[in-house]
Amino acid sequence: MDDRIIDSNLRVEDVFDKNIRPESLDEYVGQKKIKENLHIFIEAAKMRNEPLDHVLLYGPPGLGKTTLAHIIANELGSNIKTATGPSIEKSGDLAAILSTLEPGDVLFIDEIHRIPAVVEEILYSAMEDFTINVVIGQEGKSRSIKIDLPPFTLVGATTRAGDLSNPLRDRFGIVNKLEFYSDEELSQIVKRTSRVLSMNINDDAAMELARRSRKTPRLANRLFKRVRDFALVEGTGLIDLDITLKALERLNVDTYGLDNVDIEYLEALITKFNGGPVGVETISTAIGEEITTIEDVVEPFLLQEGFIKRTRSGRVACEKAYKHLGIDHNMALF
Ligand SMILES: Nc1ncnc2c1ncn2[C@@H]1O[C@H](COP(=O)(O)OP(=O)(O)OP(=O)(O)O)[C@@H](O)[C@H]1O
Ligand SMILES: [Mg+2]
Repeated sequence: MDDRIIDSNLRVEDVFDKNIRPESLDEYVGQKKIKENLHIFIEAAKMRNEPLDHVLLYGPPGLGKTTLAHIIANELGSNIKTATGPSIEKSGDLAAILSTLEPGDVLFIDEIHRIPAVVEEILYSAMEDFTINVVIGQEGKSRSIKIDLPPFTLVGATTRAGDLSNPLRDRFGIVNKLEFYSDEELSQIVKRTSRVLSMNINDDAAMELARRSRKTPRLANRLFKRVRDFALVEGTGLIDLDITLKALERLNVDTYGLDNVDIEYLEALITKFNGGPVGVETISTAIGEEITTIEDVVEPFLLQEGFIKRTRSGRVACEKAYKHLGIDHNMALF
């Protein structure tokens, strides 16, 4: 999984991509409804001189949750402090983070579904009335004191909204599900990146990259960067369709943007399990990928594109999957 170019999880190289991240709502491509609503809520909060309501962003990896969290802070003219769910192990960790907040700050907690339950409870009162209760003193003589926090906005991001507890989810006033991007939007993102990185790309090449990026900006940018390398070393320096197609072939990215793991998944589903229905655990064992990877990274796109269906009794391969793999649906039944 590590060397999947099409794996939409964050990688070290992507962390250095800060310069290609849009910084305002205007520059943020797509997600029209979310942008329009956020614009209103942000302006209203500013006019009332109140913090923006807490925002939950969820959706598959690489669709722009972290980017949007930073944009929200920018648009509010606020500072952003960031933490991740797994890094907040004890209630003390959270109290320490909260105590650094200043009025109007945005606290961004990534992977918020991974906050331990004991810590989560502290978050409830922090979110609801900007207070926390901390226990001080030794056992036997301990007492709880209430600490007031400055008004702040929590922005939580998660790839698994289903894993959030109801009480936590209910405390977010603004809940947004990020959608997959259209090819036109991805092509815009690729062109924007090409401008930022000063490497020209033709329209048809940008569109081809868009089509193969699993509807995901992170992948579009990553493919762009790899293709840029090919254009630099083996091409003319300009990214045209010719060099793009060559590069994509060398990178093993097929016409739908599916890679080895997707293909393995579909092949297993069709040939080993007669097209399903079959449980995700069984597929996981068959292809040697973790269940969370399958559920968070592989399946959302296959579902969205109609390669597979989720039914109560398990995953089922659709006609499109048979066609793409060149397997006759009826033959496969025998
Ligand atoms: N709407 C957008 N417009 C332009 N670029 C975008 C957009 N959304 C994402 N990007 C680009 O895609 C990359 C990935 O986005 P981001 O890191 O925000 O995704 P994410 O949803 O936080 O992913 P993860 O779930 O892995 O944390 C960013 O570097 C950014 O440049
Ligand atoms: Mg992120």
